[in-house]
Amino acid sequence: MSLRSRLVLIRNFGTTGAIAPASPALIGRMLHGINFQNARVIVEFGAGDGCITRELLRRMRPDARLVSFEINAQFCAMLREIRDKRFTLVEGSAERVEQVLAGAKADYVVSALPLARFPSKLVDGILSAAQRALKLGGDYIQYQYVPLTYPRIRKRFQQVRTEFVPLCLPPSFIFFCHKAEVEA
Ligand SMILES: C[S@@+](CC[C@H](N)C(=O)[O-])C[C@H]1O[C@@H](n2cnc3c(N)ncnc32)[C@H](O)[C@@H]1O
Repeated sequence: MSLRSRLVLIRNFGTTGAIAPASPALIGRMLHGINFQNARVIVEFGAGDGCITRELLRRMRPDARLVSFEINAQFCAMLREIRDKRFTLVEGSAERVEQVLAGAKADYVVSALPLARFPSKLVDGILSAAQRALKLGGDYIQYQYVPLTYPRIRKRFQQVRTEFVPLCLPPSFIFFCHKAEVEA
């Protein structure tokens, strides 16, 4: 974990909601259920310094695509250092996901957004956009320090499994949210 990443996180706490990048233990738990052999399109919300981005790219198929959203200019500068033809950085809000995918659907959306710090309208806008951007049978994976947004997540996804990861700083919750295989 670089000092630079930590400083950007702390100085922008209002929008990052974090004091440290996600730990390898937390990233491992978030990604362990992803079927990287089959996944062709993965979307990431709140890429930050790229700690999850790099691990996704390390595990992804050579012909898969990663589209990562980030609003912080300093983090975007760090993310532009990632040289990988599978990677697209979107320097803008996660709410734009459907516009950016332009009709393509995601197998997975992996989110580190600090939803608990967002106004309810923004949380609902982002969750709805993510739900629509997913393929049928796709998954939205979100980590949070506090499970405050669980009811809003549960409204968008019928199947939600929660995992608590105590051995990371701060201890975190991960929501694994499954989009049904058939239209409701
Ligand atoms: C908790 S940090 C996560 C950083 C890194 N992915 C990690 O897990 O350590 C959340 C990130 O979300 C970004 N962010 C906040 N609001 C956003 C939005 N509406 N769209 C995209 N990114 C956003 C912040 O700038 C910040 O970098």
